[in-house]
Amino acid sequence: MKEGWFIEERCFNPATAKAFEGLFTLGSGYLHVRGSLEEHLRDAPQNETYTRLPANVTSEKFRETRAKWGTYVPGIFGPHPLLNSEMINLPWFLGLELSVAGEKLDAEHSRIPAYRRTLDLETAVLRRELTWQTAAGPTISVIFERFVSGARPHLCLQRLTLRSDRSTEITIRGGIDADVRTNGYDHFRETRLSPTDPAGVRCMVQTDGGDEVFIETRLIGAADWRPEGESRRWALVGELCLHPDQPLLLEKRTAVSTSRDPAVLTPAHYLDEAAAASFDTLHAEHAEHWRNRWRSCDVRVEGDPESQLALRASLYHLLRAHVADDPRVAIDAKGFAGEAYWGRFFWDTEMYLLPFFLYTDPARARTLVDFRVQSLAGAKANAQRYGYAGARYAWESDAHGVECCPNWQYADHEVHVTADVAYGLAHYAAAAGGEEYLRGPAAAVLVETGRYWLERLDWRPGDPRPHLLGVMGPDEYTPISNDNSYTNRLVAFALHLAATHGEAAGATADEQRRFCGAAEGLPIPRHSDPTLVLQCEGFDLLAEPAFDRLWIDRTRTFAAQVSQERLYRSKCLKQADVLMLMALFPHEFTDEEVRCAWDYYLPYTTHDSSLSAGIHAIVAARLRLKDEAWRFWNASKMIDLDTAHGGAAEGIHIAGAAANWQVAIFGFAGVRTALQAQRLTIEPLLPDGWSRLAFPIRWKGQGAFVEITPDAVVITNHSSSPLEVTVFATPDSVPPASSRAWPSPAIRGVIFDLDGVLCATDESHYLAWKKLADEEGIAFDRRVNERLKGVGRMDSLDIILEKATRRYTPEEKAALAERKNDTYRQCLQAMTPADLLPGAEAVLHGLRQRGIKLAVGSSSRNAPLILERLGLGSFFDAVADGNDIRRSKPDPEVFLLAAERLGLRPRECLVVEDAAAGVEAARRAGMACFAVGEAAGLPTVRYRAASLAAIQIEELLAARL
Ligand code: BG6
Ligand code: MG
Repeated sequence: MKEGWFIEERCFNPATAKAFEGLFTLGSGYLHVRGSLEEHLRDAPQNETYTRLPANVTSEKFRETRAKWGTYVPGIFGPHPLLNSEMINLPWFLGLELSVAGEKLDAEHSRIPAYRRTLDLETAVLRRELTWQTAAGPTISVIFERFVSGARPHLCLQRLTLRSDRSTEITIRGGIDADVRTNGYDHFRETRLSPTDPAGVRCMVQTDGGDEVFIETRLIGAADWRPEGESRRWALVGELCLHPDQPLLLEKRTAVSTSRDPAVLTPAHYLDEAAAASFDTLHAEHAEHWRNRWRSCDVRVEGDPESQLALRASLYHLLRAHVADDPRVAIDAKGFAGEAYWGRFFWDTEMYLLPFFLYTDPARARTLVDFRVQSLAGAKANAQRYGYAGARYAWESDAHGVECCPNWQYADHEVHVTADVAYGLAHYAAAAGGEEYLRGPAAAVLVETGRYWLERLDWRPGDPRPHLLGVMGPDEYTPISNDNSYTNRLVAFALHLAATHGEAAGATADEQRRFCGAAEGLPIPRHSDPTLVLQCEGFDLLAEPAFDRLWIDRTRTFAAQVSQERLYRSKCLKQADVLMLMALFPHEFTDEEVRCAWDYYLPYTTHDSSLSAGIHAIVAARLRLKDEAWRFWNASKMIDLDTAHGGAAEGIHIAGAAANWQVAIFGFAGVRTALQAQRLTIEPLLPDGWSRLAFPIRWKGQGAFVEITPDAVVITNHSSSPLEVTVFATPDSVPPASSRAWPSPAIRGVIFDLDGVLCATDESHYLAWKKLADEEGIAFDRRVNERLKGVGRMDSLDIILEKATRRYTPEEKAALAERKNDTYRQCLQAMTPADLLPGAEAVLHGLRQRGIKLAVGSSSRNAPLILERLGLGSFFDAVADGNDIRRSKPDPEVFLLAAERLGLRPRECLVVEDAAAGVEAARRAGMACFAVGEAAGLPTVRYRAASLAAIQIEELLAARL
C-alpha cells in the first residue's frame, strides 16, 4: 500500500458511520455519492419526513440518524417551503444486500471478525474487505469496491468479490431506492422505476425544481435475476452459488444523467458505451485520470505522515468536488457530500476555494469565477428585492445567484460577500486570466456591484467620509455593526476595480469618480491606540465574553452553550475577522499591527467556525509564531478526519479543506498571492519535523515546482521563460526549464540580553528590590524574583505589589521605583569591565570575528550606564533598551527593535536570554533563542547552556527557530 494515500476505517462502529459516510464520499464533479454501506444499516430509514428549521448552523443540532445516504448532481436544486432552494438528494443506487440462509450481512449485527475499509485518495477508489461468519456455517470473505469514474463522470462502478470456505447459496439484491428525502423534505413530484433488460433497474424522477433525473443500474453476474419492488424502490434479486476457492465476482454499474446536462443522453447510453470495457479497464482509465489531476496539485510533506494524509484528504475532496467545464455551478459549502448547508454557494468560493484552483488548475478556477458572472441576474434581483440598484450577491446562493439564506441576520447584513466576489474576479485576473478578464466578462459584475455599494453606503452629517452601517463581517457573532474593517477594505477594493474597469461595462465618468471617491473614503476603524485595528466601530466597548464562566465544555462550540444574545453583545468572535483582513492585505499592515491584532483578538476568538483555524495558522506563520501556526494547523487539518467528533458527518468542510492547502502554501511556504506580489514569493516557516514540503504551482501562466527543506529552497521553472521569484526576501530569477537553490539564511546577528547574560546585575536587582520590599513590609523572595527577570521596572514593581497589603497610588509607585533604582545604581557604581560574566568576552569577540552583527536587547533603562561600566559603551552595533520601548518582555518589541537597528530580519537573528520572559519575547519575535542560566531549565527551550562560558560559537550560530 502506498504510504500517505489511504484513509482507513479499521472496524465498523455505528457511532462513526455517518462521519465515514461523509469522509468517504466519491465523486466525479458531475456526480457524488456518500460512502454509505452497500447493505445499509438496520433502523436507519432514509425516507423520514421532518422539518428542518432555519437556524444558526454553529449551534444547530442535526437530526440524529445512524446513516445518511447522499446522491448529488451539482445544480439539481428544488424549492423548500422554509429553506428556499436546496440541493436535492437523489435516489440511492449503491445498494447491494447479501443473505445466506435468510441471514443478511449487517455490518453492525453480523459476526465480522475482520473488517477494513479504505479510501485510496490517489485513485479515488473505496474498498471494503470483511470476513463474514454466517450463522448457517460458511465463512465468506467479502470485498466491495467502488468508484465514480473520473474518466466517465456519469458512471459509478461497483464490484463485489465473494469467497466462501464451503459451498453455499447466497442471495444478492441490488437496485435503486428513490424513497429518499432532502433534509426531511420530498422533492420528487414524480418517480418512475422499472426493471430493465439486460438485468437492471431504471429510474426517472421529476423534481419540484423542474429537472428530470435519470438513473439506470445494471447487475453483471451469472444469476437468474428477478425484479422485485414497489413504487419508489426497485431491485433485482438473484441466487448465486459460491464454491470454495472459486471467487465470485459481481458488478453493479450505474449511470446518471439529467435534463440539465448540456447534451442530454440517457444513462443507457453511458452504460452501453462502457459495456465492452472490463471493470479493470474502466478502473485503469479512472486511476489514470486521477493521477493526472494529482500531478498538478499534490503537496508532499515529508517527516509528518499525519499532516501528509490530512492534506491529501483535503485535496482529494477539492479535486472531487469541482465540476469541470460547468460555470453554472460552483462548489457548495459541504463539497457535495451532505446537506448541512443545503448545497448552496458561499463566500467560501472566492476566499477559500478559488486559490487552490488558481494556483494548480486555472482552467477550473475559471468556472468558479464565471459562476458569479453567469449568476449576475440573480444578484441583480437580490439588490432589487432589497430596494437597491446594481447587484448584490447572495450570502447563500443557489445556482442562479438568488439569495436563499433563511436567516435574516446573515442574508441582510453579511454583505461582504458582494465585495468578496469582486475580489475573486480580480484574483483570477491577477493569477491567470489577465486584465482582459476584468474588462471583459467580469466588467458588468464590477459595475453592478459598484452601483449597489454606492447606494448601500451611508453618509453622516458633517462627516465627509462614507460609512457602511449595519453589516456583519466574517465574524458572525457581531451581527449589526458599523464600519466592519474587513468589509470596508474589501468594498473599497471592489469599488477601485469598478472605477478602473467599469467603463467597459458602461459606467459613466461620474459613476467612476464616485466609485473612486467612496473607495478612498471608507474608513478602517482604529482604537485610541492606533496600532490596534478595530473589527468595527466600538468593538472595544462590547461586553467581555466571560468564557471562564460560560464556556464550560471546550470540546463544543461556544454558541452551543450560550444564548445568541450573549454572542451578539459581547466581544466573542466566531472566527478570524481583522486577522483575515490582514492575511488578504499583508502589505497594508505592519508586523506590529498584525501582532497587536493577534494579541487582542485571539483571547476573544472561539473558533466556532471551521474556517477560523486555517486563517490563524497563516497569520501565525507571517508572524513566525511557529508554535501557534502548528497548533492552528493541527486544529484545521483534523476537522473532517476527526470521525470521533462528527467530522464530515454532515458533509465535507470543503472551505476548510481549501484552507488547509492555503496553510501549507501561503502559511508554511510563505507564498504571496498574485494580488499580493508580482513575483513568486517563498518565505518558508517549516514546522519542526517537516523535513520537506514540496508542491507544484502555476504562477501567472508559468509552471513551477517548489521544494522546501530546513536547509534550502529549490525552485524548478517548468516554463520556457524566466521565472521571477523572491526567496527569503531577495528578488531573483529562475532561468527557463531549470532549477535554482537558495540556502536558508544563516544567523547574521546575535541579540544579547544584558542582566544575567553579559553581567550578574540580576543579583543587584534582587538585592535592591529586597531592600525596598523589606522597608515596605511586603513579602518578597527569590521565587517571586524569578518572575521579575527580564521584566521592566514598573511591571516588576506591580508583581511585587501583588503581595502588598494596601494599594499604592501612581505617584507612590513612581517613588518606590525611584527608591529601588537609587539602591540599584549604587551597586552599579562599583562595576568594572571585570564584571563581564565568564565566557562573555570570548563569545562576543568570536562572533565579531565571524562577521556577526551584535546587539543588546534589554528591558533595563540602565543599560547604557551598565554597558559604559563594562567598557562596552560603543562595542555593540545596536542597543535597544528599556528607554526605547513601550512594552517590556515578554513582548517582543525590544528584540524586534534591536533587529531593525541591526538592519536584519527576525529570521536572521538569534537571541541569548536568561529569563523566561525573554525567551518568550524571542519566540514571539520569531527569533531563534539560546537560553542560559535559569532559563536553560525551561522545558520549552530548544538550545541551552549553563552560561556563555559553556557555549561554542558554532553551536550558537547553528540555533534555529
Ligand atoms: C531587566 C532585568 O533586564 O531590566 C529586570 O532583568 C529589571 O530585573 C529590568 O527589572 C528593568 O531594569 P531597570 O534597570 O530599568 O530598572
Ligand atoms: Mg536577563
